[in-house]
Amino acid sequence: MKMRNNKYRKPTSLRCNAGSRCSTPVAVWALVGFLIVLQLWNLISHTNIQSKHAHHSSMIHHPLLRELQVVEEENIQMPPPRRRSPRAAKRKPKRATTLVDEFLDENSQIRHVFFPSAKMAVDPTKDNGNDSFYYYPGRVWLDTEGNPIQAHGGGILYDERSETYYWYGEYKDGPTYHAHKKGAARVDVIGVGCYSSKDLWTWKNEGIVLAAEPENEAHDLHKSNILERPKVIYNSKTAKYVMWMHIDDTNYTKASVGVATSSTPVGPFTYLHSKRPHNSDSRDMTIFKDDDNTAYIIYSSDDNSELHIGPLDKDYLDVTGVVRRVLVGQHREAPAVFKYDGTYYMITSGCTGWAPNEARAHAAESMMGNWETMGDPCVVGGNSKVFRFATFFSQGSFVVPVFGFEGLFVFMADRWNPADLRDSRYVWLPLIVGGAVDRPLDYSFGFPLWSRVSIYWHRRWRLPPQWNGNIV
Ligand code: DGJ
Repeated sequence: MKMRNNKYRKPTSLRCNAGSRCSTPVAVWALVGFLIVLQLWNLISHTNIQSKHAHHSSMIHHPLLRELQVVEEENIQMPPPRRRSPRAAKRKPKRATTLVDEFLDENSQIRHVFFPSAKMAVDPTKDNGNDSFYYYPGRVWLDTEGNPIQAHGGGILYDERSETYYWYGEYKDGPTYHAHKKGAARVDVIGVGCYSSKDLWTWKNEGIVLAAEPENEAHDLHKSNILERPKVIYNSKTAKYVMWMHIDDTNYTKASVGVATSSTPVGPFTYLHSKRPHNSDSRDMTIFKDDDNTAYIIYSSDDNSELHIGPLDKDYLDVTGVVRRVLVGQHREAPAVFKYDGTYYMITSGCTGWAPNEARAHAAESMMGNWETMGDPCVVGGNSKVFRFATFFSQGSFVVPVFGFEGLFVFMADRWNPADLRDSRYVWLPLIVGGAVDRPLDYSFGFPLWSRVSIYWHRRWRLPPQWNGNIV
């Protein structure tokens, strides 16, 4: 059948330049060429990444780290349902109770699984025999004076000058109450606790290095306010230890950061001021000091719907005008940042108050982004998926590098006890960077440029005995 010449029909040849025409075969060959180049590029980047993974894998297959990567089983059994009177059963539509409900129920029959009795406390001062240096996540952990460590939502500074670790955190040794019916459980501000250690296991109480203000109600540190997630870094230019923290009122509407400084790691710190960084609301936060001494603040903002990241000024006393919104719409809090092999990593939690939720790992080639989400880093065997999906019933606060062991870090988390916040526990676990990520990324043809972050559950574990605590 003869086709009619239709002026609206697309020409079968492509117009390349004005005046010249390319035939269909040329276009097809161009396309084939383009696809070949794309495949080659893909192959090369894949090979690079494979070799990077192989490099990491050989490091993480270091025999000393192997036992930290054993996937331990955890099978927490739900207790049998409690008897309810027929009337009570009618009143409330029944929803299946979850392990998280059990965790949050202070009268749960399996309370001891989440909050082992004080009799089982880890006491580094006693003769522990074969138990020396072992972490028992979730157990009460005593300082060198025999008191439970009070450093919640904390972070660790390795002080090169004294070759000592300092652990700073919320000192919460007071009664838990609700300021009003709908308010979150709280403890009045007491201050920032500081503990020192050479081995990350035996901790000496250095006292409250930034204390609450008992009288002046207008003061940020007045006991009726909120002081959370303090972190300290050292500024070698000013020779000051600089503390940043989340400062808020009891309803979490002030949403600010506070800054304090000291000439020694054990304080006392002098409180300078609070502000909303970059004119944004700021709640959970952390700070991170990079190898080039640039420090960054990372905070949950826009009602916790996104994170903001920005460099601090040279003195680490203020933010600069530079800020980047990241993980927009992902509703993450409790950021903990670390760096490995030139890549930046971050662990975050979801936003469910004191209740545990699923952690996520993120990675970026630069602190200012792009930050990509890699999924849940928690690894545990057994039938308790909830345990994994609730960060082992805890919420991250900081990640500490283990010097001398490539790719090995300690993930520090809080197992909050909203019924009695002072009895919140610490969950410290090995975090290892290495191996291929679980999920391909859409934009980079399925080959992300970084490795998997894994946090391995252990009921009992220790750092490699060869580790001597210092930078090598
Ligand atoms: C979750 C945050 O991560 C904690 O620091 C604390 O602010 C609680 N929310 C309060 O509910």
